[in-house]
Amino acid sequence: MTSDKTQKFLERGLPFLREGSRYQAEKQKSIQKGFQSPLQIIVDRAEGDFVYDLDGRKIIDFQNGWATNPLGNCHPEVLEAVRDAHERYGFHWEHSLRIPLAEKLASITPGAALPRFSFEVSGTEAAESAVHAALCHMKRRYVIAFASSFHGESLGAKLLSAYDSDNYRYLEAWTGGVIRTPFPHSEELPPGMSQSEYTDQCLWHLEHYIPRYVMSADNIAGVLVEPALAEGGNWVPDIRFIKEIRDICDRNDWLMIADEVLTGVGRTGAMWAVEHSSVVPDILVMGKHLSGGIESFAGFSAKDEILGDNPRASGGSTFAGTPAGCAAALKTLEVIERDKILDQAQRLSDVARDITDSWPSDYDIVSEIRGLGLLLGVSFNTAHHEGIHVARSVRDEMLRLGAWGICDFQPQVRLYPALNMDEQVLLEGLNMMKQAIEVVERDGPVIGDYPPIPSGNVGF
Ligand SMILES: Cc1ncc(COP(=O)(O)O)c(C=O)c1O
Repeated sequence: MTSDKTQKFLERGLPFLREGSRYQAEKQKSIQKGFQSPLQIIVDRAEGDFVYDLDGRKIIDFQNGWATNPLGNCHPEVLEAVRDAHERYGFHWEHSLRIPLAEKLASITPGAALPRFSFEVSGTEAAESAVHAALCHMKRRYVIAFASSFHGESLGAKLLSAYDSDNYRYLEAWTGGVIRTPFPHSEELPPGMSQSEYTDQCLWHLEHYIPRYVMSADNIAGVLVEPALAEGGNWVPDIRFIKEIRDICDRNDWLMIADEVLTGVGRTGAMWAVEHSSVVPDILVMGKHLSGGIESFAGFSAKDEILGDNPRASGGSTFAGTPAGCAAALKTLEVIERDKILDQAQRLSDVARDITDSWPSDYDIVSEIRGLGLLLGVSFNTAHHEGIHVARSVRDEMLRLGAWGICDFQPQVRLYPALNMDEQVLLEGLNMMKQAIEVVERDGPVIGDYPPIPSGNVGF
């Protein structure tokens, strides 16, 4: 049960926050069906590998501010850099950290081949602005985006994202420039097709079906792709999929736009997920980890010819590239290099895989172990129960035991440990997850179809 203190606090928000009325109505329906509501927490304090809830409970943080704290919560050096920047500049657009950061980013993009950077506030804005730059550079009107992908919540990013067709209800009139194409997600395998055959089919659709039946190749500016699905369930395609997208883009004169808002800056054990496929995209979108989880900061890097002289591709709003955001990013990148954080992430990933790899054979409810580096997830079987109920029940049982993972709209629990998480804490958290799976395997799911409580993103 959610604690009284947390429940009271959350209910205070219901009259004021989005979805408050829907939550109340769904709750009544769910109670009538005998369901239990998902466990909710509010973070009262965060430190290192842990968060503390309103009742002072210490909880292992696999939620990670939605995969935003690469160095754990409240990294002291990043906090100090941010404090200094606030004290020194307050807010000015023309401050002296912007150019050093752009220089640094140019040196760490894949192959150091993307020297120009556009400063943005959020990943949403960065993804949208990257597509705008691509359209203006190519002087073309269409972009290809993948099913199951997520690129953000602005009007433009919603149109580019593709959870399902319901995503576009009331936006149908705006979707004209986006061509959607299948991603070879294992959860969507057509009956009788192997994973490898489906990957081939998706590539064939992209290269042959679209130009022949949907839009001529010379009116398509580029392909927007997440090198590993993030919000779509931490699912990682075969590395050849990303390589072949690069080749298809080259053969068709399309730009490859990699959205690494969630996978970038070490999440997958490499600085950029595209590096696992030895691919250099034309545009790389980044955010989240980039500013150490302390400040709003995002942007995109691009080849010289795309951003060096592209006057129509204006981007960046007032708060894009704030002094504090740039300071946070510079310090985060410095610590990642100095402390060999990518090596730490890779080692922790091996530890996690050793523990979890046998779970699909050990437990009926577990269908797949997902992941690359510390982009980790467990996918649940939908054969006996709706998978989402199983996944939510596991997520709840974990939270009861003391580890916080993410389960939103899909039959998965996603885990985003800090890249420098203490190994013992990681093991303890995974052990809690294992115990949670055992409870749900034995007793069945108990969580119903409640929507998440409408207090920002809390409670997934
Ligand atoms: C791949 C990807 N692109 C874009 C976004 C949007 O980023 P933000 O929430 O910072 O606007 C997200 C957020 O989860 C994401 O995962």
